[in-house]
Amino acid sequence: MQTVMTRTEDNALSNETPDAARKKVPLGSERLYPLLDEDVIQQKVRELARKISGDYAGHVPLLVGVLKGAWVFMADLVRQVSIPVSCDFLGVSSYGASTETSGVVKIVVDLKQPIADKEVLLIEDIVDTGLTLNFLVENLKLRGPRNVRICALLDKPSRHRTEVKIDYLGFTVPDRFLVGYGIDYAERYRNLPYIGYLEFGAEREKH
Ligand code: IMP
Ligand code: MG
Repeated sequence: MQTVMTRTEDNALSNETPDAARKKVPLGSERLYPLLDEDVIQQKVRELARKISGDYAGHVPLLVGVLKGAWVFMADLVRQVSIPVSCDFLGVSSYGASTETSGVVKIVVDLKQPIADKEVLLIEDIVDTGLTLNFLVENLKLRGPRNVRICALLDKPSRHRTEVKIDYLGFTVPDRFLVGYGIDYAERYRNLPYIGYLEFGAEREKH
């Protein structure tokens, strides 16, 4: 059941990771707390779209969404961009541990087109360790684009395991397990219009 609770101040600042708790608990025992409201997200999306439209004025960038998480963000973003763009998607899956990126990423859905000489803007929902984006940027660069830049809605800098240069960033967020606005837990919560975080099992009893 999705139960929305009010966020407390210490929750927002806590750096504790729920990874261990998350692995043990059955689906449905998690509790959802709001973090970023719908209007705050939409305002940020407009701001990012304005910057992108200005920076790429006179060009037609190829926006590449990383499936599935970035689909909702990208759908809103492209509708606020005022210059012509084209769109494509990459589907990735990560080998290894299920709740954390192993760093070994497999492209399961590839671009439909060559990107030689194109200006590519990767659209990602959330940067955690940074390993997925790092892999994708290196992979795309081998295909000879004019440039590859990154637009990410959320970033958890405390979790980075590699250097990632995010050219367009929405929000810096604490090390929490986030869901909503395209981001899932076991394929659920993608349809929330806002972003929240989940607490699992014993962890949620603290409140
Ligand atoms: P990274 O390679 O560790 O940066 O992983 C990035 C991907 O992991 C994101 O695109 C998400 O699909 C997933 N991910 C990272 N953090 C979260 C989270 O808090 N909730 C849900 N998925 C997440
Ligand atoms: Mg993603």
